[in-house]
Amino acid sequence: MKLMVIGGGGREHAIIKKLKENPKVEVIYALPGNGGIARDAVCVNISAKDIDGIVRFAGENRIDYAVVAPDDPLAMGCVDSLMAAGIPCFGPDQKAAAIESSKVFAKNLMKKYGIPTASYEIFDDPSEALKYLETAPIPTVVKADGLALGKGVTVAMTREEAFTAVREIMQEKKFGSSGNRIVIEEYLEGPEVSVLSFTDGNVIKPMISSMDHKRAYDKDKGPNTGGMGTIAPNPYYTDAVAEQCMQQIFLPTIRAMKAEGRPFRGCLYFGLMITKDGPKVIEYNCRFGDPETQVVLPLLESDLLTIMQSVTNETLEQCEVRFSGQHACCVVLASKGYPGSYEKGFELGIPEAISDNVFVAGAAQKDGKLVTAGGRVAGVTAVAETLEDAIKEAYSLADQVTFDNRMCRSDIGQRALSALL
Ligand code: AMP
Ligand code: GLY
Repeated sequence: MKLMVIGGGGREHAIIKKLKENPKVEVIYALPGNGGIARDAVCVNISAKDIDGIVRFAGENRIDYAVVAPDDPLAMGCVDSLMAAGIPCFGPDQKAAAIESSKVFAKNLMKKYGIPTASYEIFDDPSEALKYLETAPIPTVVKADGLALGKGVTVAMTREEAFTAVREIMQEKKFGSSGNRIVIEEYLEGPEVSVLSFTDGNVIKPMISSMDHKRAYDKDKGPNTGGMGTIAPNPYYTDAVAEQCMQQIFLPTIRAMKAEGRPFRGCLYFGLMITKDGPKVIEYNCRFGDPETQVVLPLLESDLLTIMQSVTNETLEQCEVRFSGQHACCVVLASKGYPGSYEKGFELGIPEAISDNVFVAGAAQKDGKLVTAGGRVAGVTAVAETLEDAIKEAYSLADQVTFDNRMCRSDIGQRALSALL
């Protein structure tokens, strides 16, 4: 079979490595992929947002199955266009992708169907939002409605910060039209859990839980990033919490999407907070998380391609989704300065012996060498029988990946470890 994966980060590298385990796979094209992914797939210089280019490539190269991984092409209707061209693919269509691409849609869906989430108000007029904030309980959370490269959320600990967020999003248009509407919501507290799931619109099969580390520096200090590391499974996600999530959140969400005429087929990501009043939804994503995927897929024992095809064919019910009972840790190696500005173009060294453990996020080929080309450069994952061993092993492997101006957090997994004590 000829496969095509849309996207070019560490998440896509993890998906590609897993798909390759199926012996039926002859070739995987990555659009656009990256310099490191080029070791595992044929990279094609077509942007993930070039929907016409993607559809044309798929037709010309007789692609048998496509996986659309990033939020932008999903929100732009890439799956709709591929399906219309007769290419079976994994990922929600544009109407279902709204669960991530519009926070207003997601919040209204949860309210209508009684799915637990932070209480909220929606504004399309900045002066009304500012007026509301004069008396709103603080801390509060301000969210741009649309996609904003993961930066559209401000957790405001003071009223002044909340005012600033509204001005930046709605008046200065920091995120363009994504800020035409905003959500202002109740501040929740508790440990966060990410749960990715496979769903074909009728049946939902959660993957193993995970924990992201979003802040740039140790002890959850510094600015928010795309994610500096992950562990799986997440110790806060006990069997009792999992059952509560299934009954109160997961099943109600896929039923709600179906009832709205937007059946969700693909990977539905639940960003959850385990509050004292039970689990609540912080956000939905319409795709695999990055870097959650880099710890979840290495623990998947069932065949990924078979599962994905069963999602497309709506036969997930009969398909086994089995995880090993092990633990995984992924340490992200970033360029110094990330998530702000950083230098790139440094030679990236990944010893062949550990390349199976390395998911390259931002690298390019230059004069036959691999060089850094992004804020997040690579994620290094280890799998072990205990969380403690997975963390140790991930750091020891990460030490062997070299480039100038390299930075990483030194405490990935520590919060989870202390929860286990
Ligand atoms: P997001 O960009 O939606 O992933 O949100 C970024 C982070 O903001 C989340 O991981 C949470 O830590 C935090 N956050 C979002 N919504 C809330 C909320 N209602 N209460 C407290 N923290 C929140
Ligand atoms: N790691 C969070 C995300 O993928 O949105």
